[in-house]
Amino acid sequence: MFGKKVLGIDVGGSGIKGAPVDISSGRMLTERYRIPTPAGAKPDEMIEVIGQVIKYFNWRGPVGLGFPAAIRDGTVLTAANIHKNWIGVHLPSEIKKLTGNNSSLINDADAAGLAEMNFGAGREKPGTVMVITVGTGLGTALFYNGALVPNTELGHLEMQGKEAEHFASDFIRKKDELDWPTWAGRFNEYLSVLEKLFWPRMIIIGGGVSKKHEKFFQFLNVGAELVPAQLRNEAGIIGAAVWAHHLRV
Ligand code: BGC
Repeated sequence: MFGKKVLGIDVGGSGIKGAPVDISSGRMLTERYRIPTPAGAKPDEMIEVIGQVIKYFNWRGPVGLGFPAAIRDGTVLTAANIHKNWIGVHLPSEIKKLTGNNSSLINDADAAGLAEMNFGAGREKPGTVMVITVGTGLGTALFYNGALVPNTELGHLEMQGKEAEHFASDFIRKKDELDWPTWAGRFNEYLSVLEKLFWPRMIIIGGGVSKKHEKFFQFLNVGAELVPAQLRNEAGIIGAAVWAHHLRV
Protein backbone atom coordinates (compact mmCIF):
# COMPACT_ATOMS: atom_id res chain seq x y z
CA MET A 1 0.00 0.00 0.00
CA PHE A 2 1.23 3.50 -0.79
CA GLY A 3 1.40 6.27 1.77
CA LYS A 4 0.97 9.93 1.00
CA LYS A 5 1.98 11.12 -2.44
CA VAL A 6 3.56 14.49 -3.20
CA LEU A 7 4.75 15.84 -6.55
CA GLY A 8 8.44 16.72 -6.12
CA ILE A 9 9.96 19.23 -8.53
CA ASP A 10 13.66 20.05 -8.71
CA VAL A 11 14.04 23.47 -10.27
CA GLY A 12 17.56 23.87 -11.65
CA GLY A 13 19.63 26.23 -13.75
CA SER A 14 19.59 23.77 -16.67
CA GLY A 15 16.48 21.63 -16.20
CA ILE A 16 13.17 21.55 -14.33
CA LYS A 17 12.26 17.97 -13.44
CA GLY A 18 9.51 16.37 -11.44
CA ALA A 19 7.90 13.11 -10.41
CA PRO A 20 5.29 11.98 -7.90
CA VAL A 21 6.95 10.61 -4.76
CA ASP A 22 5.66 8.15 -2.21
CA ILE A 23 6.62 9.81 1.06
CA SER A 24 6.78 6.69 3.21
CA SER A 25 9.23 4.82 0.95
CA GLY A 26 10.94 7.86 -0.61
CA ARG A 27 10.44 6.31 -4.05
CA MET A 28 9.46 8.06 -7.23
CA LEU A 29 6.25 6.56 -8.55
CA THR A 30 6.94 7.22 -12.24
CA GLU A 31 9.81 8.22 -14.49
CA ARG A 32 10.73 11.85 -13.95
CA TYR A 33 9.53 14.42 -16.48
CA ARG A 34 12.09 17.07 -17.46
CA ILE A 35 11.86 20.34 -19.38
CA PRO A 36 15.02 22.42 -20.05
CA THR A 37 15.18 25.66 -18.08
CA PRO A 38 14.38 28.59 -20.42
CA ALA A 39 17.52 30.57 -21.35
CA GLY A 40 18.09 33.52 -19.03
CA ALA A 41 16.35 31.69 -16.15
CA LYS A 42 13.79 34.48 -15.66
CA PRO A 43 10.91 34.08 -13.17
CA ASP A 44 7.90 34.32 -15.54
CA GLU A 45 9.24 31.79 -18.02
CA MET A 46 10.44 29.38 -15.34
CA ILE A 47 7.16 29.59 -13.42
CA GLU A 48 5.35 28.74 -16.67
CA VAL A 49 7.53 25.62 -17.07
CA ILE A 50 6.96 24.56 -13.44
CA GLY A 51 3.24 24.84 -14.24
CA GLN A 52 3.73 22.61 -17.30
CA VAL A 53 5.35 19.91 -15.14
CA ILE A 54 2.41 20.05 -12.69
CA LYS A 55 -0.08 19.85 -15.59
CA TYR A 56 1.82 16.98 -17.25
CA PHE A 57 1.09 14.85 -14.19
CA ASN A 58 -2.46 16.25 -13.90
CA TRP A 59 -1.52 16.84 -10.28
CA ARG A 60 -4.18 17.92 -7.79
CA GLY A 61 -2.31 17.36 -4.52
CA PRO A 62 0.61 19.03 -2.75
CA VAL A 63 3.79 20.04 -4.59
CA GLY A 64 7.30 20.28 -3.12
CA LEU A 65 9.69 22.61 -4.95
CA GLY A 66 13.49 22.53 -4.63
CA PHE A 67 15.18 25.70 -5.85
CA PRO A 68 18.82 26.84 -6.37
CA ALA A 69 18.80 29.78 -3.94
CA ALA A 70 18.59 30.66 -0.26
CA ILE A 71 14.93 30.42 0.75
CA ARG A 72 13.02 31.76 3.73
CA ASP A 73 9.30 31.19 4.27
CA GLY A 74 8.78 30.42 0.59
CA THR A 75 10.59 33.53 -0.66
CA VAL A 76 13.69 33.44 -2.89
CA LEU A 77 16.48 35.47 -1.24
CA THR A 78 19.45 35.08 -3.64
CA ALA A 79 20.16 34.52 -7.34
CA ALA A 80 23.59 33.08 -8.19
CA ASN A 81 22.79 30.96 -11.25
CA ILE A 82 19.32 32.32 -12.06
CA HIS A 83 18.00 35.74 -13.14
CA LYS A 84 18.24 38.48 -10.49
CA ASN A 85 14.50 39.19 -10.81
CA TRP A 86 13.93 36.02 -8.79
CA ILE A 87 14.96 37.83 -5.60
CA GLY A 88 11.86 38.49 -3.52
CA VAL A 89 9.55 36.12 -5.44
CA HIS A 90 7.25 34.05 -3.19
CA LEU A 91 7.05 31.00 -5.45
CA PRO A 92 4.22 29.11 -3.67
CA SER A 93 1.91 32.14 -4.22
CA GLU A 94 2.75 32.15 -7.94
CA ILE A 95 2.08 28.41 -8.25
CA LYS A 96 -1.21 28.79 -6.40
CA LYS A 97 -2.28 31.47 -8.90
CA LEU A 98 -1.17 29.44 -11.90
CA THR A 99 -2.36 25.90 -11.10
CA GLY A 100 -4.24 26.10 -7.78
CA ASN A 101 -1.82 23.67 -6.10
CA ASN A 102 -0.46 24.21 -2.61
CA SER A 103 3.33 24.02 -2.56
CA SER A 104 6.42 24.52 -0.41
CA LEU A 105 9.87 25.81 -1.31
CA ILE A 106 13.26 24.60 -0.10
CA ASN A 107 16.85 25.12 -1.26
CA ASP A 108 17.80 22.40 -3.79
CA ALA A 109 20.84 21.11 -1.87
CA ASP A 110 18.85 21.05 1.37
CA ALA A 111 16.22 18.99 -0.49
CA ALA A 112 18.82 16.54 -1.83
CA GLY A 113 20.30 16.32 1.66
CA LEU A 114 16.93 15.56 3.26
CA ALA A 115 16.39 12.74 0.77
CA GLU A 116 19.82 11.25 1.48
CA MET A 117 19.36 11.53 5.26
CA ASN A 118 15.92 9.91 5.15
CA PHE A 119 16.31 7.28 2.44
CA GLY A 120 19.92 7.24 1.18
CA ALA A 121 23.56 7.38 2.21
CA GLY A 122 22.97 9.32 5.46
CA ARG A 123 20.14 7.19 6.85
CA GLU A 124 20.32 7.00 10.66
CA LYS A 125 23.72 8.68 10.65
CA PRO A 126 24.16 10.69 13.88
CA GLY A 127 26.37 13.72 14.45
CA THR A 128 27.40 16.20 11.78
CA VAL A 129 26.82 15.15 8.17
CA MET A 130 27.32 17.39 5.14
CA VAL A 131 25.83 16.87 1.71
CA ILE A 132 27.53 18.62 -1.22
CA THR A 133 25.79 18.74 -4.59
CA VAL A 134 28.21 19.31 -7.44
CA GLY A 135 26.65 20.64 -10.62
CA THR A 136 26.29 24.10 -12.19
CA GLY A 137 26.92 25.46 -8.71
CA LEU A 138 28.11 23.93 -5.46
CA GLY A 139 25.20 23.28 -3.11
CA THR A 140 25.60 22.40 0.55
CA ALA A 141 23.37 20.96 3.25
CA LEU A 142 24.31 20.62 6.93
CA PHE A 143 22.72 18.14 9.36
CA TYR A 144 23.22 17.43 13.02
CA ASN A 145 21.59 14.25 14.29
CA GLY A 146 19.42 14.31 11.18
CA ALA A 147 18.16 17.89 11.70
CA LEU A 148 18.75 20.34 8.86
CA VAL A 149 20.35 23.77 9.29
CA PRO A 150 18.94 25.37 6.12
CA ASN A 151 20.59 27.69 3.59
CA THR A 152 24.25 27.11 4.44
CA GLU A 153 25.17 28.31 0.90
CA LEU A 154 28.80 27.25 1.31
CA GLY A 155 29.35 27.15 -2.44
CA HIS A 156 29.97 30.87 -2.06
CA LEU A 157 32.88 30.59 0.38
CA GLU A 158 35.89 32.42 -0.98
CA MET A 159 38.81 30.31 -2.20
CA GLN A 160 41.88 31.66 -4.00
CA GLY A 161 40.08 34.98 -4.52
CA LYS A 162 37.03 33.36 -6.12
CA GLU A 163 33.75 31.93 -4.98
CA ALA A 164 34.25 28.19 -4.40
CA GLU A 165 31.67 27.31 -7.04
CA HIS A 166 33.64 29.29 -9.61
CA PHE A 167 36.69 27.21 -8.70
CA ALA A 168 35.48 23.65 -8.14
CA SER A 169 31.98 23.07 -9.58
CA ASP A 170 31.23 20.55 -12.31
CA PHE A 171 30.40 23.45 -14.62
CA ILE A 172 33.96 24.76 -14.19
CA ARG A 173 35.43 21.27 -14.74
CA LYS A 174 33.69 21.11 -18.11
CA LYS A 175 34.16 24.76 -19.09
CA ASP A 176 37.89 24.80 -18.33
CA GLU A 177 38.32 21.24 -19.66
CA LEU A 178 39.99 20.14 -16.42
CA ASP A 179 41.00 16.49 -16.28
CA TRP A 180 39.68 14.48 -13.33
CA PRO A 181 42.88 14.61 -11.20
CA THR A 182 43.15 18.40 -11.64
CA TRP A 183 39.51 19.05 -10.85
CA ALA A 184 39.63 16.59 -7.93
CA GLY A 185 42.62 18.49 -6.52
CA ARG A 186 40.51 21.65 -6.46
CA PHE A 187 37.51 19.87 -5.02
CA ASN A 188 39.69 18.32 -2.34
CA GLU A 189 40.88 21.80 -1.30
CA TYR A 190 37.25 22.82 -1.00
CA LEU A 191 36.39 19.80 1.13
CA SER A 192 39.38 20.53 3.37
CA VAL A 193 38.05 24.03 4.02
CA LEU A 194 34.64 22.62 4.94
CA GLU A 195 36.26 20.05 7.23
CA LYS A 196 38.15 22.72 9.13
CA LEU A 197 34.91 24.65 9.68
CA PHE A 198 32.46 21.88 10.58
CA TRP A 199 34.34 18.61 11.28
CA PRO A 200 31.64 16.43 9.71
CA ARG A 201 31.64 12.70 10.40
CA MET A 202 30.37 11.98 6.90
CA ILE A 203 30.37 13.90 3.61
CA ILE A 204 27.90 12.78 0.95
CA ILE A 205 28.70 13.85 -2.62
CA GLY A 206 25.61 14.38 -4.78
CA GLY A 207 24.61 16.12 -7.99
CA GLY A 208 25.59 15.16 -11.53
CA VAL A 209 29.11 13.99 -10.62
CA SER A 210 27.91 11.47 -8.04
CA LYS A 211 27.36 8.87 -10.75
CA LYS A 212 30.97 9.35 -11.90
CA HIS A 213 32.48 9.07 -8.42
CA GLU A 214 34.84 6.25 -9.42
CA LYS A 215 36.62 8.81 -11.66
CA PHE A 216 37.68 11.09 -8.80
CA PHE A 217 37.08 9.64 -5.33
CA GLN A 218 40.56 8.09 -5.36
CA PHE A 219 42.11 11.59 -5.55
CA LEU A 220 40.25 12.89 -2.49
CA ASN A 221 41.81 12.84 0.93
CA VAL A 222 39.60 13.97 3.81
CA GLY A 223 39.13 12.85 7.39
CA ALA A 224 35.37 12.35 7.11
CA GLU A 225 33.79 9.22 5.70
CA LEU A 226 33.24 10.13 2.05
CA VAL A 227 30.37 8.50 0.15
CA PRO A 228 28.47 9.08 -3.10
CA ALA A 229 24.80 10.01 -2.87
CA GLN A 230 22.64 6.92 -3.22
CA LEU A 231 19.64 8.64 -4.76
CA ARG A 232 21.78 10.39 -7.35
CA ASN A 233 19.91 12.94 -9.42
CA GLU A 234 16.57 11.90 -7.97
CA ALA A 235 17.47 13.19 -4.50
CA GLY A 236 16.36 16.77 -5.27
CA ILE A 237 12.89 15.63 -6.37
CA ILE A 238 12.44 13.24 -3.45
CA GLY A 239 13.68 15.72 -0.83
CA ALA A 240 11.48 18.55 -2.12
CA ALA A 241 8.49 16.22 -1.73
CA VAL A 242 9.59 15.19 1.77
CA TRP A 243 9.76 18.86 2.80
CA ALA A 244 6.26 19.59 1.50
CA HIS A 245 4.99 16.65 3.51
CA HIS A 246 6.88 17.86 6.60
CA LEU A 247 5.23 21.29 6.29
CA ARG A 248 1.84 19.67 5.57
CA VAL A 249 1.16 21.91 2.57
C1 BGC B 1 23.13 28.54 -4.97
C2 BGC B 1 22.60 27.54 -3.97
C3 BGC B 1 22.36 26.19 -4.63
C4 BGC B 1 23.58 25.74 -5.38
C5 BGC B 1 23.34 24.45 -6.14
C6 BGC B 1 24.33 27.97 -5.67
O1 BGC B 1 24.79 28.87 -6.63
O2 BGC B 1 23.47 29.74 -4.32
O3 BGC B 1 21.41 28.01 -3.40
O4 BGC B 1 22.01 25.25 -3.65
O5 BGC B 1 24.00 26.73 -6.31
O6 BGC B 1 22.31 24.58 -7.07
